Amino acid sequence: MDNVQLGQEEWREEQREILAFIQNELGWSYEGYSMASLERQIARVARDLCDGDSLALLRWLQFEPKKRSRLLRDALTVNVTDLFRDPEFYLDLKQQCFGYLSEFPRLKIWIAGCSTGEEAFSLAIMLHEAGLLKRAEILATDLDFACLRQARSGVLSGPFARQEAERYRKSGGQASLLEYFSLSYGLSKLRQELLDHIHFAQHGLRGSAPGEQFHMVLCRNVMIYFGPSLKAKVLQGFYKSLIPRGYLCLGNKESIEFPEGVELRQLSRHRIYQIQR
Ligand SMILES: C[S@@+](CC[C@H](N)C(=O)[O-])C[C@H]1O[C@@H](n2cnc3c(N)ncnc32)[C@H](O)[C@@H]1O
Repeated sequence: MDNVQLGQEEWREEQREILAFIQNELGWSYEGYSMASLERQIARVARDLCDGDSLALLRWLQFEPKKRSRLLRDALTVNVTDLFRDPEFYLDLKQQCFGYLSEFPRLKIWIAGCSTGEEAFSLAIMLHEAGLLKRAEILATDLDFACLRQARSGVLSGPFARQEAERYRKSGGQASLLEYFSLSYGLSKLRQELLDHIHFAQHGLRGSAPGEQFHMVLCRNVMIYFGPSLKAKVLQGFYKSLIPRGYLCLGNKESIEFPEGVELRQLSRHRIYQIQR
């Protein structure tokens, strides 16, 4: 074995140790995640915290193991999100799905992997403008407690700037985005009457689905970190959770193969699908 290969092998071994450490501490495993994606994330964290030295990262973990394992787990499951992320998605959602959704007196929507809540806030605003929010309950779930704490507060995790207003406009927004937020001490908080329609809860996608029937499920930019068998299991769970002709919305960058028995029709290039039963 030459030095380069040896280096690669050692690096892999250290990464496996890091993952096993987190697994032991938190009783939570990365089984089913894409190893390539996890390796990239560990390399990123090791670079940020310890000059790229993964052994040093392992030593860092051993000091306050539970707290730091939780921090590292959260860093590995990237939390990037935005208000009206991919605005054309919201535009398509409104044009393709809101008509059918308006036929129901009550609406249940599940956002899986909601991070700090901006996606749920955006959807609540869109539903409000379509006159559908009053009948809607949005269940927004994530694995990450810290994200959920932030999400429940209704306070935006990032700045409220021109880009947000621009994306809202491109999403088909009809008012001024500012109307939906109260601003105080530099923080922007979603208006309470909108926030009241969102229930944030902790849920890991490797477990079973929440056991309710939904009119629409959104899981955007989450499964990019999953390996094929976990993806297939999660997609089957979504499929079972949806009502006849319900909608499944996935992220643009997702590479997805639908497992057998999951029959969906693609409605938009922004990965909006409708159940074929
Ligand atoms: C990149 S964010 C996407 C947020 C939002 N859906 C969006 O598109 O803006 C991915 C989120 O998925 C969550 N996540 C990763 N693995 C998960 C799992 N197994 N179960 C539930 N959530 C998970 C992460 O904690 C993170 O908040």
